[in-house]
Amino acid sequence: MSLLRRVVSTIGNSDWNRRFLSNKRTSPPNGERSYFFKIARYLWRRFPQPLRYRFWLWWGEVLPYQRIIYRGKVLRWGRDRTKAYRAVFPTAPAGESILDLGCHTGFYCFMAASEGAKHCLGIDHVASRIKEGMELAAREGIRNVELVAADVFDYDLPRTFDVVLCLNLLHHMRSIERAEALIEKVYGWSRERIVFIVLRPRNASATYEYVDEYGTRYLHFSAQYFRDKYGTDRIDESLLDPGCYGANRSIIVLEKCKR
Ligand SMILES: C[S@@+](CC[C@H](N)C(=O)[O-])C[C@H]1O[C@@H](n2cnc3c(N)ncnc32)[C@H](O)[C@@H]1O
Repeated sequence: MSLLRRVVSTIGNSDWNRRFLSNKRTSPPNGERSYFFKIARYLWRRFPQPLRYRFWLWWGEVLPYQRIIYRGKVLRWGRDRTKAYRAVFPTAPAGESILDLGCHTGFYCFMAASEGAKHCLGIDHVASRIKEGMELAAREGIRNVELVAADVFDYDLPRTFDVVLCLNLLHHMRSIERAEALIEKVYGWSRERIVFIVLRPRNASATYEYVDEYGTRYLHFSAQYFRDKYGTDRIDESLLDPGCYGANRSIIVLEKCKR
């Protein structure tokens, strides 16, 4: 497993691949139309769902979760999240301070810093992800990206940020009490706006919903949950392209200053 990971990582981080995966071309040329792709897709769809899920988890371990890009240069190979980034920041966050909770390796911080953000702080409780991100920032001499290994519940932040990102984090909270505690914290740390990416409930009338998937409990939220809490005019919802993180996710923006 670790050997395979190393092989994939070595190929992925090679100069050839950096050029191949540069921002100008984010997917292989004609990949969607090749016979290889069509056959692979045909076989994939005939796999039983539990096996597909296990394979997906395994592949997730091999293929890094976020491709790290700074000013158009690929610093670390992985899954391309630039489409989601553009949905989170339709305009460049120049001059803003950003807090990214559950930042993984810091993709959103690096991108925001590329686009002129003043300061970007990312927090994640998996130390190895933070270490990798910090090494990349140090290697490239990026000073406005700071990544901290901590649990968001233990971290004491003595300051506020223009924008707080809470992307794909709430569904991991497992209980509504824990998720609400996190939302309260996020609210306190933000000045202008908060951006959430959430899994949507399957039951259209639910404001939140527990969903068990292969032994793990996830929490899904509707935009109505946030509207009830903060008022309809302060919440904006849009569906996230399924190509970003998979189906059934929405992006919810809470404008804090709006009354
Ligand atoms: C699904 S990933 C999302 C990563 C990133 N926000 C994105 O959307 O690309 C969730 C991340 O949250 C982190 N995480 C989960 N619970 C956390 C907690 N209590 N404190 C800090 N990080 C946490 C995980 O380690 C993981 O990197």
